[in-house]
Amino acid sequence: MKDQWFALDDYFNEHLLGADPDLEAALQANSAADLPAIDVSAAQGKMLYLLARMQGANRILEIGTLGGYSTICMARALPNDGQIVSLELEEKHARVARANLERAGLLPLVDIRVGKALETLAQLHRENAGPFDFTFIDADKENIPQYFQWAIKLGRPSSAIVVDNVGRRGEVIDADTDDRGTLGVRRLMEMLKGESRISATTIQTVGHKGYDGFLLAICQ
Ligand code: SAH
Ligand code: DHB
Ligand code: MG
Repeated sequence: MKDQWFALDDYFNEHLLGADPDLEAALQANSAADLPAIDVSAAQGKMLYLLARMQGANRILEIGTLGGYSTICMARALPNDGQIVSLELEEKHARVARANLERAGLLPLVDIRVGKALETLAQLHRENAGPFDFTFIDADKENIPQYFQWAIKLGRPSSAIVVDNVGRRGEVIDADTDDRGTLGVRRLMEMLKGESRISATTIQTVGHKGYDGFLLAICQ
């Protein structure tokens, strides 16, 4: 089955994405620096770009930078006076990401903040850094509900929020799981069930990054 997911991903990407030297160089640099290969897939990166463009986003918030693969994709959707603020725990990841963004000519549009995202988010709120038009949540999964609450708080009516990795190979509905990330996703779903300020849907995905899913939401 996986062979087919990969082959079809390749087929679509060949027709719709084409070669992308800056993204390919970023993946090589990530691998050379021993970063985990948990970036979004090429197809998902293009989707983030399209969503940010559809949103007409001028200010984007990203939680979880890694080597900046998804950051590059979203920064490409920004106008020249736009900005993406990207939060990353690891100084090393941030360093690799800055080099990747520099190579892609996008570093002037990006503000990478190193530290625990929950602390940086509180700091952004104190700074009045919002409102963000678009937020991509893709850091540690156990804090997803808190990150989502911050995304609402730092957003505005009609802001969009995307959460990566909410499918987790179907484990979200495994009643016996004690995986903290999976439980984080489940708490988000329980939170959204009674959250009238948010309109959302989840789409399950297969492809080069396995069987997973993303949540797309808009603030009322
Ligand atoms: N969005 C990236 C992938 C992010 S991987 C891409 O698609 O290219 C998740 C990242 O979140 C890792 O770099 C990890 O170091 C970071 N992270 C984990 N816990 C964090 C925390 N508490 N605060 C900020 N970043 C965190
Ligand atoms: C992991 C994190 C991700 O954001 C992802 O897309 C895939 C895997 C992880 O922590 O294993
Ligand atoms: Mg992810």
